[in-house]
Amino acid sequence: MRQAGRYMPEFRKIRAKHSFLEVCHDPELAAEVTLLPVRAFNMDAAILFSDILVIPEALQVGLRFEDKIGPIIERPLQTPADIQSLPVIDIKKSLAFVEKTIKLLIPRLKVPLIGFCGAPFTIASYMIEGGSSRDLKKTKQWLLKDPESFHRLLQLITDYTLDYMHLQANAGIHAFQVFDSWANVLGHVQFREFSLQYLHRLIQGFKSTKLPIILFCRGSSVFASQMAEIGPAAISVDWNADLATIRTRIPATIALQGNLDPDILYAPRKLLKKEINHLLKSMQGDPGYIFNLGHGIHPDIPMDSVKTLVETVQNFQTTQ
Ligand code: CP3
Repeated sequence: MRQAGRYMPEFRKIRAKHSFLEVCHDPELAAEVTLLPVRAFNMDAAILFSDILVIPEALQVGLRFEDKIGPIIERPLQTPADIQSLPVIDIKKSLAFVEKTIKLLIPRLKVPLIGFCGAPFTIASYMIEGGSSRDLKKTKQWLLKDPESFHRLLQLITDYTLDYMHLQANAGIHAFQVFDSWANVLGHVQFREFSLQYLHRLIQGFKSTKLPIILFCRGSSVFASQMAEIGPAAISVDWNADLATIRTRIPATIALQGNLDPDILYAPRKLLKKEINHLLKSMQGDPGYIFNLGHGIHPDIPMDSVKTLVETVQNFQTTQ
């Protein structure tokens, strides 16, 4: 997760000249940044360089990224009328730059390319909160007081997201990951109604492509069984739970991805290796296990720690 992020000096060098959104919008630059970690660390897969917020951006809510703050949406949704006023857009046109980036990448990559998007609930919450928020108070108040208009917003985002997923599939990605980064603020009843239902629609609507879908929720260690019900190819698990225990509750037909605490990358090399090996051993022999972090990598993580991580995982695989 966040392969390039800001921890790579090569990325920071590009960012010194271009804003984050400029890099996303420029297919050559976005392709180059996608390749940076693959070249530096010999990763087993690449994740497209983009952001989940390109859909709200295409809906013209005024997205910008501010250093040390993160994303800001200048015109957040405040009333049901604001949903009505969103422009009708053509994803193929608005997000054509993503299609171009993928098409540049496919011939340059020797490993699979993972495309991605945000889950409808997470995208809706950014559009309502106007940026990152710890408690998502406005979003939760809206869905409790006026579930009908909240569902209208989720459905609108779901429709555009499916167009976006098909755009990426047609351009050539090999697998797709959906990030529900804010699902953890929901209780299990609301999770089912306001998140899972729409994740299910994404999975159903994407079936024709036959590409695997990996589902990540912050909160997946709690919601894993519910997520399994909607039949993703894989569930990406946050770092709060013991993955081997989660495995006992999830059908063997669903792969599990995860779930090293990203903070472990701050540990000295010896402890870092110990923690990685502990996780790998706990999942040893499971053909449906994909090593990953349990959430995004922090910008101040040393490159050497990432190198140690990749080497430890790859050596474990080849020596067993
Ligand atoms: O190469 C990669 O890093 C992978 C591409 C990628 C990015 N964002 C690039 C990015 C992916 C897969 C994402 C997903 C994403 N974006 C999520 C879901 C995953 C998660 O972390 O839960 C979310 C919630 C977002 C929205 C977003 N984008 C936030 C909250 C921020 C600020 C984060 C921060 O640490 O300040 C971003 C910015 C962002 N997206 C950066 C990158 C490389 C940093 C931008 C910069 O250079 O300043």
